[in-house]
Amino acid sequence: MKALVLNGPGAIEWTEVPKPQLTAGKVLVKMKAVSLNRRDDWIREGKYPNIRYGGILGSDGAGIVEEVADEQDKGWLGKDVVINPNINWGPDPDVQSKNYSILGMPVNGTFAEYCLVDADRLHPIPFHLDALQAAALPLGGLTAFRALFRMGGLKAGDNVLISGFGGGVAQFAFLFAQAAGANVYVTSGSDDKINRALKMGAKGAYNYKKEANYSDLWKTRGGFNLVIDSAGGDQINSFIKVLKPNGKIVFYGATNGLPSKIDLYRMFWNQLTLQGTTMGSDHEFSEMLSYTGKHQIRPIIDSIRPVSRLAVSFGDIVLPNKVGKIVFQL
Ligand SMILES: NC(=O)c1ccc[n+]([C@@H]2O[C@H](COP(=O)([O-])OP(=O)(O)OC[C@H]3O[C@@H](n4cnc5c(N)ncnc54)[C@H](OP(=O)(O)O)[C@@H]3O)[C@@H](O)[C@H]2O)c1
Repeated sequence: MKALVLNGPGAIEWTEVPKPQLTAGKVLVKMKAVSLNRRDDWIREGKYPNIRYGGILGSDGAGIVEEVADEQDKGWLGKDVVINPNINWGPDPDVQSKNYSILGMPVNGTFAEYCLVDADRLHPIPFHLDALQAAALPLGGLTAFRALFRMGGLKAGDNVLISGFGGGVAQFAFLFAQAAGANVYVTSGSDDKINRALKMGAKGAYNYKKEANYSDLWKTRGGFNLVIDSAGGDQINSFIKVLKPNGKIVFYGATNGLPSKIDLYRMFWNQLTLQGTTMGSDHEFSEMLSYTGKHQIRPIIDSIRPVSRLAVSFGDIVLPNKVGKIVFQL
């Protein structure tokens, strides 16, 4: 079969590899669609722990179950599925276990004609989605769902600011928060994306390259209950300024690195929380799929490309005009 293999630092190739063999508890999924995450590109660049050269990348994917090892899993045969990329989250909903990992490194991932996973990683595709849309969901949808609801405690009527609207996770945070009845505001570095967010119902949108402190927001709207961020850096202090008392910043990444300082005075005086989060439990994955189905949420897809374009598309994950997920059809 063909798969996207990481041969060395920066070296990825869509190439021939042996088709995986079934072992107990496993199922073989013939992939129909996969999608790119920033994580895949971090791994390609060598900026991720436990990198294994010769491994197959990819966390997100959907397909049809072609073979199962165990009698009890025969019901999955011929079913369209989306794959939960968590491996060993463990029993604690608060935090992942010590041997937690994510499909696609170091374990072989979805960027292949066939993907071998544990049978309990399979979920039916929500009825209103096709495989291309479902392939956009797993990593970004799960991360956004936990950030908003478990970590952020988002409720209807809350004011939430989602930074970097163009991001793969941020778009799910936007869609999920709207469905929850929150007042959703966004930031982006692009005026085009800002206009797009406003057309999609954002209550306000701010260009972080032009308005670094969003102070008018704080004055006119009474501030935010919640900020969802993955950029990090010194911008955290702007968020601290626009939070309501008892507000929270939930962050799932630090693309721009560490802040040089942090306004702890304002944080303790206003009873603020800075809350980290990552991916989500298996239970949250199921909840995220149910929520997507219940609210008929359709992922924002930047583009659908043939899988032959996968290797040359990695760099596009950071293109300034990208909104939503880049999906590949097999
Ligand atoms: N912990 C986890 O479980 C987890 C899961 C997924 C992702 N992540 C991490 O979260 C980060 C984003 O992931 P992703 O998949 O959403 O990546 P992505 O699709 O590449 O999105 C990155 C977005 O970040 C935004 N951005 C860049 N500089 C910014 C700034 N100064 N302020 C606000 N936004 C800024 C940009 O938004 P605009 O284009 O709108 O300007 C860009 O589109 C990455 O570091 C990734 O590794 C972590």
